[in-house]
Amino acid sequence: MTETVPPLIRALVTGEGHVLREVRLKALADSPDSFEETAAEAEARSDDYWTDLVGPVSLSDRAQLLVAETDEVVVSLVFVRVDNDRIAHVGSMWVHPSYRRSGIGQKMLDNATAFAQRVGAKSLELWVSAEDPGARQFYEADGYRLTGETRLLRRGSGVQVQHMRRHFRAQ
Ligand SMILES: CC(C)(COP(=O)(O)OP(=O)(O)OC[C@H]1O[C@@H](n2cnc3c(N)ncnc32)[C@H](O)[C@@H]1OP(=O)(O)O)[C@@H](O)C(=O)NCCC(=O)NCCS
Repeated sequence: MTETVPPLIRALVTGEGHVLREVRLKALADSPDSFEETAAEAEARSDDYWTDLVGPVSLSDRAQLLVAETDEVVVSLVFVRVDNDRIAHVGSMWVHPSYRRSGIGQKMLDNATAFAQRVGAKSLELWVSAEDPGARQFYEADGYRLTGETRLLRRGSGVQVQHMRRHFRAQ
C-alpha cells in the first residue's frame, strides 16, 4: 500500500512571488465568486507585483502567506495579517478541489490562527461568499460567526459577501 504524504504547510519567503502567482491564479480560476480579485486582474499583474507582495510579508512579524505543498505542487493558500487594533484579517483561503474535505483547509486555518494569536490578535475576521454555504460552514466549524455585515464581492458583481468574526477567549 502506498502511503500518502500529507501536504507540508509553510510560509512563503522572499523570492517566491512566482509561487504565489501560480496558486493564486489557480484559486481565482477555480473559485471566481469567492474572491474580490478577478483572474483577469491577477493575470495582468507583472512579476514585480508578486515579488513585491511576498517580500514584505515574509519579512513582517504581523503577516504571513501560507501554502500547503504536496510533491512541490501548491494545493492551498491562506493570508493572515494582524492590524494595529489587534484584529487578524484572514483572506485568500483556498484548497485545490482534489484535496478538499481531507482537513487541509482546517490545518491552514489552524496555522494562520496560531500565528495571529502569537502576535497578540484578539479576534479574526474575514469575508465569505453568501453563495457558498460550504465555505461558511467551514468557518463556522472553526468558531467564526456571521456579524450581520454584508457587501458586494466587487463592483458590478451580483454576489454578496458576508462578514464573519471569531473571538479568542480572553487570556
Ligand atoms: C472552504 C475550503 C477552503 C475548505 O477547505 P477543505 O480543505 O475542504 O476543508 P476541511 O477538509 O479542512 O474541512 C474542515 C471542516 O469544515 C467543514 N466544511 C468544509 N467544507 C465544507 C463544505 N463544503 N460543506 C460543509 N462543511 C464543510 C466541515 O465541518 C469539515 O469537517 P469534516 O470534513 O470533518 O466534516 C475549500 O472548500 C475551498 O477552497 N473552497 C473554495 C474557495 C473558498 O470558498 N474559499 C474561502 C474564501 S472566503
